[in-house]
Amino acid sequence: MNTDFLNFISALKEKASIADIIEKYVPLVRHGGGIWARCPFHSEKTPSFKINEEGFYKCFGCGKGGDVIRFIMEYEKLDFTDAVKKLCDLTGTEFPEFAADREGQGNASLDKAAKDRLLSLMKDAARFYHNSLNEKDKGAEILKYLTGRGITNEYIKKFGLGFSPDFYGVINRLKELNYTEEEIINSGVGATNDQGWLFDSLGTRLIVPIINRFDDVVAFGGRDMSGESAAKYKNTRETPLFKKNKTLFGINAVKAAARKSGTKGNGIILVEGYFDVIALHQAGFTTAAASMGTSLTPEQAKLIKSFTNDVFICYDGDVAGKTSTLRGLDILRDAGLSVKVVGLPEGLDPDEYIERCGTAGFKTLLESAPVLSVFKMNVSCEGLDLNKLEHRRKYTAAAIKVIAEEKSGAAKEDLLKTLGKNLNMSLDVLRKDLEVFISESEKTIDAPKEGGKPIESSRQKAVKFILYGALKNASYASDISFVYRHLEETAHKEIFNIIESAEGGRVNISAHIGEENGKISDELINILSGGDLIDPALAKKYFEDCKRLLLGNTETDLRLEQLKARYDTETDLDKRKKIAMEIQLLIREKVKGKK
Ligand code: CTP
Ligand code: MN
Repeated sequence: MNTDFLNFISALKEKASIADIIEKYVPLVRHGGGIWARCPFHSEKTPSFKINEEGFYKCFGCGKGGDVIRFIMEYEKLDFTDAVKKLCDLTGTEFPEFAADREGQGNASLDKAAKDRLLSLMKDAARFYHNSLNEKDKGAEILKYLTGRGITNEYIKKFGLGFSPDFYGVINRLKELNYTEEEIINSGVGATNDQGWLFDSLGTRLIVPIINRFDDVVAFGGRDMSGESAAKYKNTRETPLFKKNKTLFGINAVKAAARKSGTKGNGIILVEGYFDVIALHQAGFTTAAASMGTSLTPEQAKLIKSFTNDVFICYDGDVAGKTSTLRGLDILRDAGLSVKVVGLPEGLDPDEYIERCGTAGFKTLLESAPVLSVFKMNVSCEGLDLNKLEHRRKYTAAAIKVIAEEKSGAAKEDLLKTLGKNLNMSLDVLRKDLEVFISESEKTIDAPKEGGKPIESSRQKAVKFILYGALKNASYASDISFVYRHLEETAHKEIFNIIESAEGGRVNISAHIGEENGKISDELINILSGGDLIDPALAKKYFEDCKRLLLGNTETDLRLEQLKARYDTETDLDKRKKIAMEIQLLIREKVKGKK
């Protein structure tokens, strides 16, 4: 992010009291010197969501935390820039011009002129790759491959497909066009090897340009044609122009189709691969886009949402039921999209299916695609024998869980009916089960838990409290240099440095909290909200205990070293025995202390 934007954000956050903003969304209660609310991100009856006027919130129930912008992002399901805009609305601030420039590209670190250079470089590279298809040997071979896969000349052109003849052709061409080596590297097209030579990072591959919603080429995908590379597909690396998990391949075509039809009605077809998208477009399904083999992200869901409200997800038969895929589908659903799951026969991808069954076949598949909840219910029944009691129970439990997730009452009812039919069971019984499940899950979420993270060791806890004392500028924590050698996590080391370089030991905490500070912000919030749970009257004593815990062990280490040295040099057998026993005792203590 550029400094103008950062300054703007910190001024905006200063202007907005976090409690005032959050109060616009959820009622607050003030007790015990703190500001609390019932967490809006999980269901609970007693408040475990705490607001800290240093500019952050933390829920001790579900573990979510962040600054005011993060709150808006989570609550309103917005990305960073839109959440800033919303905060501007809420505080009556004007959203500045320079910040508007960054929209949609995520390239704040690049000024406009540099960005335009990179974009034109990408276009020139794309032209070079595409023209290479005219080359009579290799070029003709690739053309033949593409036609062999059923892709017509029209679509080769439409998608700007091409190929890289070798490792230097595109580099030379770009240099001829006066791009600098630095620009070629920054674009991702070129990379340097150990000897410092600049080479085409997708050399000898079939090239698929990745084009964003503004019709700019922002990256390239490359398919290995030799069959010798370990990676069948590779893409140019992430650059200021290209973030893989914020883009979808084919989104420009989807946008064009949406513009043509003038509605949001068509629905996007989400597939995995480049060739799936191309095949679908060619078969007349002009709203196909691909996540390029990675799992779906909230940013991609948002991108989709700006073009349509309906998603048909169409992954290879064998991936659709996988947990990681299902998680991606939940992301789409949570973004407010209505999701249907297109079932492909096992082992076939959309490209292969179209080749065999054509447009009509695929159309039937789309029409018969179940909605997400029905699909999930079907998955939970797979491989079970519903004549067996144990399997029936398993299925009921899984299905009830799916039904509980469904928001609409009518849909819940429909699902219950299906379940009842499948199990030949009365609706009333199942309805009861559902009610019990919902009230039970509210209870379990209610209890604060460690957010699924591995339990912390007492040493980690001690380190955090020592940092806490220093962050709070407590008198007992004026010198924490001893803790440095016990820091293991990078975020802790960075926080230590922040403390050490703070003027007069006073850390400006709010300056380090927020999206723009990444991991450090999260860890600061962890440390601060964790420390706040300790009774202030006992804080000093707790701090001393923590210190002793850390140092105690190092003293033990020192003593151990001495003893071992003595053991090695001792000649008296009795004395050696005694030393050995003492060593064993110490080691046992040390092991206990570490737990
Ligand atoms: N992909 C990628 N990087 C990888 C692997 C896959 O970007 N290392 C993306 C590509 O967009 C690719 C998609 O994931 O199109 C699907 O990959 P894969 O299943 O390997 O594609 P296939 O259908 O096997 O490829 P093809 O049809 O070209 O043989
Ligand atoms: Mn394929």
